Amino acid sequence: MVRLISIGPAYAEGDMNGRQCPSYPAQWSAVTSSELWTRETADRYDAEEAEASSAAALGPTLAFLAELAGEGRALEFAIGTGRVGVPLRKRGVPVVGIELSEHMAAVLRRKVDEETLPVIVGDMATTVVPGEFSLVYLVYNTISNLLTQDEQVECFRNAARHLEPGGRFVIELGVPPLRLLPPGQVAVPFDVSQRHLGFDTFDLVEQILVSHHFTRDGDDGRYRRANSRHRYAWPAELDLMARIAGLELERRVADWDGSPFTQDSAKHISVWRKPA
Ligand SMILES: C[S@@+](CC[C@H](N)C(=O)[O-])C[C@H]1O[C@@H](n2cnc3c(N)ncnc32)[C@H](O)[C@@H]1O
Repeated sequence: MVRLISIGPAYAEGDMNGRQCPSYPAQWSAVTSSELWTRETADRYDAEEAEASSAAALGPTLAFLAELAGEGRALEFAIGTGRVGVPLRKRGVPVVGIELSEHMAAVLRRKVDEETLPVIVGDMATTVVPGEFSLVYLVYNTISNLLTQDEQVECFRNAARHLEPGGRFVIELGVPPLRLLPPGQVAVPFDVSQRHLGFDTFDLVEQILVSHHFTRDGDDGRYRRANSRHRYAWPAELDLMARIAGLELERRVADWDGSPFTQDSAKHISVWRKPA
């Protein structure tokens, strides 16, 4: 099942009423609400995302992005461990990454050197890298890691800032699963499997969703608890953010294979264009 948020900075329940107590990388001042992905999360990420990292799963994503990049360069916001950026680079597209977590960037760096794929540790809403790009992309629900509307708008502005005229900004994001939340119910389960129990809870006023994960790592019957916060947004709100940033909606599809976006789509791939 495709869901809004399956990926988050897993952190132990505890400080700040169960919220992560962030520690910031030296290169970055506290201008973002994003929670910082820890070393433990970074070290687990590739194994946990093995299926979504397979050549079969990534094929349509890479084809979609490579076509939009054309002969130009691509900038990935929140590149993480390079699940998408590294194979896109291997396809011949020059890729630069921005990533908030030095731990996630360190895992990427074990796969590819700095000259082949430069990564700047910083906030995707504000960090500026040199040069222009034909493509800026932000996948895997990650705009939701910015927890305020203002920061999400700044993220669009930052994408537009880096685009050459005619360049595209691509976002992959789930449609908020609020149709699954009947009145009076506080949680929506998204995974009930042998090793993982997951459910989302919602703050409908602040437009915040918290994903709760209970994961069994071994066979001793113990579950590791983690959660992550996200700001959900509908496609129409993103279109307005794009317009504020001077971008125009070019295309919206339900998945990387280009299937049509309908009222039942659980996620969307949206492409906004900077006017030439
Ligand atoms: C779900 S992972 C996606 C990583 C990668 N794009 C992928 O598709 O596998 C989310 C990533 O977003 C990063 N992130 C969260 N907030 C960020 C921000 N404000 N600026 C840059 N990166 C951010 C996290 O550190 C994490 O690496």
